[in-house]
Amino acid sequence: MKSTSAIIVAAGSGTRMKSSVPKPFLTLDNNTVLYHTIQRFLQVADISEIIIVTSSQLLTSEYLRVSIPKSASIPIRTIAGGKQRQDSVYNGLQAVNPDSIIVCIHDGVRPFIDPETITSTIELCNQYDGAIVAVPSTNTLKEIQDQLIVKTIDRDIIWQAQTPQTFRKDILINAYKQAFRTNVTGTDDASLVEQSGGRIGIVAGSLRNIKITCQHDLLIAQLLLEKGAI
Ligand code: C5P
Repeated sequence: MKSTSAIIVAAGSGTRMKSSVPKPFLTLDNNTVLYHTIQRFLQVADISEIIIVTSSQLLTSEYLRVSIPKSASIPIRTIAGGKQRQDSVYNGLQAVNPDSIIVCIHDGVRPFIDPETITSTIELCNQYDGAIVAVPSTNTLKEIQDQLIVKTIDRDIIWQAQTPQTFRKDILINAYKQAFRTNVTGTDDASLVEQSGGRIGIVAGSLRNIKITCQHDLLIAQLLLEKGAI
């Protein structure tokens, strides 16, 4: 089914590492993190377009220019993001090709996603309203109030959400509209679809699908590449 749009969120907002370079544009093996991420999506046959959402100041930057692979076989468009991740995704949704039935949302700072895993999330949308990549929690999670433990959560039922998070386009757009109407902010896309009653499947992911948010993550990413573990 070649009617899937990928939205890759790469607004260089938020905290920066020691470097003044926004996280999606840090260098990993001679290319930017975002360049690696886009390459993974270009290997997915079902994807018909890629929309990169970044901050307006970066739209004409050299950082972005070098991050877009030359001679890609599908259109790669760039648009301005918003204040929070949720605003950035919403801007991306406005730009999606009207013919697309499925939309796949991915963090620009997760450069090691397997193309097969992306495909699995797309395929699961035949069965559910959406599907996200997640991994079982290896840590025991505690609910805390005033620095005291209130509850230990049964680890066997806890999974950690990653991206991509892939949905039927109409359902995702409606969930976003409802969230803005009701002033709800979610830390991921699935939470908005859950709140509007959607059924979302899980694709078991990998711990290699790291999110580069601190110096430590960048070091791990470099090591994984050097060791050929990606
Ligand atoms: O900050 P957070 O962990 O939510 O970032 C996850 C992804 O969302 C990153 O790839 C970041 O570039 C992107 N993002 C965005 N627009 C924002 C904030 C974050 O595209 N306003």
